[in-house]
Amino acid sequence: MNNIVPHTFQVERKDRNKLKGHKSFVVWFTGLSGSGKSTLANMVEKRLYDNGVHTFTLDGDNVRGGLNNNLGFSREDRSENLRRIAEVAKLFIDSGSLVIGSFISPLKSDRDSVKKIIGENDFVEIYVNTPIEICESRDVKGLYKKARAGEIKNFTGIDAPYEEPEFPDIEVKTNLEEADASVKRIFDYLKNKLEIKSNE
Ligand code: ADX
Repeated sequence: MNNIVPHTFQVERKDRNKLKGHKSFVVWFTGLSGSGKSTLANMVEKRLYDNGVHTFTLDGDNVRGGLNNNLGFSREDRSENLRRIAEVAKLFIDSGSLVIGSFISPLKSDRDSVKKIIGENDFVEIYVNTPIEICESRDVKGLYKKARAGEIKNFTGIDAPYEEPEFPDIEVKTNLEEADASVKRIFDYLKNKLEIKSNE
């Protein structure tokens, strides 16, 4: 940082947290394409909203379409995609919001970098563990079919790796648990960390 001197602001994160009535941090959903990350993220966000929590979701749709629209799916580009997202998430945390991130984030080293940027105490990792056969059979976006046909290169789970998280805070096996039950588990975990009293 050359000649950049951070300014001291009178209103800080803790003040914004006080105003909003809850703590702020990141809830990070990782898993294969089609594993159900965004579906769960969406349901969790609604539940939080209904309990008065200020949230914001970052996902491929709103980030890859804008801020990161110059990035593809090479190892380097995914890494840069996630680095920028981590920096944005950090700003949102400072704003006092609970950030929900939904990204494949396939490599352990990239997830570790994200965790480092955000800070370990502000990072909750949720592994959406759905077997690839199920993701592929759902193929909601038709991308697995294209990847198998060789029309998309570097597709996670087909010709690009996905490294499973070793110690996620929460693991969801979507083929063994109903979504409502997973959401309840996630919500109960977050409720404590947010330090809110829920209406539920
Ligand atoms: S990440 O690897 O950099 O974390 P990200 O979550 O932003 O990926 O984007 C994943 C989404 O982009 C997938 O759900 C899918 O819709 C789309 N996509 C397009 N090309 C690929 C690819 N080669 N591998 C994985 N997903 C892809």
